[in-house]
Amino acid sequence: MKSNNPRLIASKILSRVIYKGESLSPLLIEDERAADPLVRDLCFGSLRWHYRLSAVLNTLMAKPLKNKDKDIECLLRIGLYQIIYQQTPDHAAVNETVSALKGLKKPWAKKLLNGILRNFLRQQDELLAIIDKKEAIRCAFPDWLIGKIKKAWPDHWQTILSASNQRAPMVLRVNLLQQTRTQYHTKLKRYGIKSTLSTVCDTAIILDQPIHVNQLPDFEQGAVSVQDTAAQLAAKLLDLKPQMQVLDACAAPGGKTGHILENCQSLEVVAIDNNATRLERVKENLQRLFPTPESKKSKIKLLAVDASDTEQWAKGISFDRILLDAPCSATGVIRRHPDIKCLRRADDIKALQQQQQILLTQLWAKLKPEGKLLYATCSILPEENEKQIATFIEQTEDAVIQIIDAKWGHALPYGRQIFPNESAMDGFYYALIKKRQSVR
Ligand SMILES: C[S@@+](CC[C@H](N)C(=O)[O-])C[C@H]1O[C@@H](n2cnc3c(N)ncnc32)[C@H](O)[C@@H]1O
Repeated sequence: MKSNNPRLIASKILSRVIYKGESLSPLLIEDERAADPLVRDLCFGSLRWHYRLSAVLNTLMAKPLKNKDKDIECLLRIGLYQIIYQQTPDHAAVNETVSALKGLKKPWAKKLLNGILRNFLRQQDELLAIIDKKEAIRCAFPDWLIGKIKKAWPDHWQTILSASNQRAPMVLRVNLLQQTRTQYHTKLKRYGIKSTLSTVCDTAIILDQPIHVNQLPDFEQGAVSVQDTAAQLAAKLLDLKPQMQVLDACAAPGGKTGHILENCQSLEVVAIDNNATRLERVKENLQRLFPTPESKKSKIKLLAVDASDTEQWAKGISFDRILLDAPCSATGVIRRHPDIKCLRRADDIKALQQQQQILLTQLWAKLKPEGKLLYATCSILPEENEKQIATFIEQTEDAVIQIIDAKWGHALPYGRQIFPNESAMDGFYYALIKKRQSVR
């Protein structure tokens, strides 16, 4: 029988993220024991502070353990996380960590675990003061990424790093086809769920505490969706009108597709994702939001194809609006996905940049004259954002950048950048580009 010990479950998940390079979110869904809030907290917290916890461990261990025993190192990081960040009483943190070891069937490690954690407790202030002299350890970020963020945002990098190490709020998008935001806010109050209204987006409600979606009134009936405020800005920026043909080029899991359909009726929408499994999530989300034929006021077509392979899927078709929510480094959402700090490599950025450039160029050909393309990423790196768009505009004769006049984010010569936690939002980038009528 599988153990229900939260520390053991969390250490096995951590092991798969850190040593096998797997993403945290699917692992938390795959194992139903990970629904336990303590397991989730141990996973998120230990990954958020991974670089600092690892530095402590390196100082305390005479030599690293063999590859087959890396699960013990993960258990140790969890013990250290509880001592440093959760204010778990010292004896409980040590005893619980040692007791979780039973599930690993490595009794020889009991003395090692006990010794390392007690050794840390004896000298924690001095030890932390020494390791924290290194910026990357103090901020718990990889060196290469700190370098990039510093270079890009010399006046903001410290705020960005600190915001990225905080927990993100749970944000709801109210389906205005069913009720006003004020009505749903009032309903939340009646259910005893505390929340505030976003000041930058008229569909967003920020919950004081995250809760399970089953506890949200009328969630199954499509009254609300869970979506960060920054992502909720896309639908309005698209400036949709009935009868328009709209392409959502990188659609899964369908957060923005759903919002597009709530935002304007009688559209013809094509939603594409090259990951067929993720595209199934779009279908499920739309089924929840628009369960009956009467509720479906727009036509929607889902395609599991490579959006850049327009020869295959877009012969003879063009669009009034294109949303390119491009695959990116996700450096703006590290507070929601702290595993990004362990999984992302410096080399990935160049590859992503090339992918984005191909998507942009190929999809541009499918935009009608006078049509608009909205380019979005949840990245804070200029090479995926402003620089990418600047190059595109310079090289594309009929592309005209549009000014986004907004209360949120920072206006750049090309597009608008939001830093993590500004107006409680995720880090995001938007650029709106219009296609000029061809002149002869
Ligand atoms: C940032 S996510 C999209 C999030 C989505 N727009 C939402 O709001 O829920 C990027 C998506 O692009 C997809 N993708 C990456 N490369 C693609 C390509 N060449 N063609 C189509 N989809 C692609 C990924 O599978 C991923 O689901």
